[in-house]
Amino acid sequence: MSIDYQEQIPNNVDLHEDRRLQRALESWQPSFLGWWQTMGPTLPTEDVYLRTAVNVGREGWAHFGHVAMKDYRWGIFLAERDGERKIAFGQHKGEPAWQKVPGEYRSDLRRLIVIQGDTEPASVEQQRNLGATAPSLYDLRNLFQVNVEEGRHLWAMVYLLHAYFGRDGREEAEALLKRNSGSEDAPRILGAFNEETPDWLSFFMFTYFTDRDGKYQLGTLKESAFDPLSRTCEFMLKEESHHMFVGTTGIDRIVERTAQLMVEHDTDDAGPHGAIPLATIQKYINFHYTVSLDLFGGEQSTNVANYFTAGIKGRWMEERRKDDHRLLDDSAVVDTVEDGQVASVEVPALLGLNSDLRAEYVADCENGLKRWNTVLEDAGLPQRLVIPHRAFNRKVGVFAGLHATPDGTVVSKQDWEAQVGTWLPTDADKAHVRSLMQPVYERGKIASWIAPPRNGINGKPFDYDYVHLV
Ligand SMILES: [Fe+2]
Ligand SMILES: [Fe+2]
Repeated sequence: MSIDYQEQIPNNVDLHEDRRLQRALESWQPSFLGWWQTMGPTLPTEDVYLRTAVNVGREGWAHFGHVAMKDYRWGIFLAERDGERKIAFGQHKGEPAWQKVPGEYRSDLRRLIVIQGDTEPASVEQQRNLGATAPSLYDLRNLFQVNVEEGRHLWAMVYLLHAYFGRDGREEAEALLKRNSGSEDAPRILGAFNEETPDWLSFFMFTYFTDRDGKYQLGTLKESAFDPLSRTCEFMLKEESHHMFVGTTGIDRIVERTAQLMVEHDTDDAGPHGAIPLATIQKYINFHYTVSLDLFGGEQSTNVANYFTAGIKGRWMEERRKDDHRLLDDSAVVDTVEDGQVASVEVPALLGLNSDLRAEYVADCENGLKRWNTVLEDAGLPQRLVIPHRAFNRKVGVFAGLHATPDGTVVSKQDWEAQVGTWLPTDADKAHVRSLMQPVYERGKIASWIAPPRNGINGKPFDYDYVHLV
């Protein structure tokens, strides 16, 4: 399963054997490059120390080297095929996985692929100006690594659209480059992907909370009976783990620096000393966590029940679940609102699958909080960061329209609005964060508001020349 880099489009799917498909993708390629030039990273660079996939196997799948970003070899890489693979859940459980799209599931599958595909270029668009304010060359390199890989994830979805969905697939592939994050006329499909990522605190929060939603969505598609989708997502998940590493360690390092300055100046508010105040970090967590929860959709969903029964979207770690994988007789407890208060209700398990996935995600998010609180504890500080109650600040699902505080207490709209500035970033908070965002492009140097990383990339030191600017 090594990757052919002689081809115009690097791939491990024997693209040269299907001339029609190859031509279709080669004619989409200039549109993609045009999009990258106009909507991709704005900071001019000579080259960047990037990893490129060279194999999809377990060992040594990536090659690292300095490349000009516009010459990055975006390609089509699917995880290895298991010829024996059987469908693990739903009404087709036990049947061989599909190598083609069954007619009856065609539009649902296309929809799921388009929604996933739409998020990938969206995040590149959201992050395009961050290079101008990078806290170090190491961080700048990580930003660009995330960007090129999100671009590759777009390729991954466009390959599926072109290869399996004929003409409407090609039209969807075009449309993925026409919608833009935050656009008035043609916005990205999901709300969180139209939010701004104006500063590096937002970037790290995005890669921690929103990319992590992506991890869970990809995890459910990896279970899909449609084998090419499953194999595509499996390899994307491998790349995705670095994005989450960037978020997790980015916030680690911010908390570390803030804690250091709090101790040094014996103060709760390290803002005047060149740090991001802990209270501001908490507000950013509150914001990014709650907009990411919205990405999981409603607590109950018949669509998702149908996807599961059809076999097109499974649960997180489907094969490790100890049940019959059909769920016809099972029930689940999900959130609801009763008499204006947070409550719960028992529903058929199939209807509660969004809640099931969200619960897995929430448990994963809590690990980050533990890490960051350990940093505070190690600094001898009593303060702790928390994730807010799931009813707080929601726009999707049963809690939309409810006015709940971060601890889950329902209050009046007036009370909520009077206090929202203590829970979510205010203009003043954002302005302070932005004032700290001064670029540091000198090798081995770092901005005031973040600690250096413990290790560099691929065994290189922190002061390595990760990026050559123009
Ligand atoms: Fe992605
Ligand atoms: Fe990602």
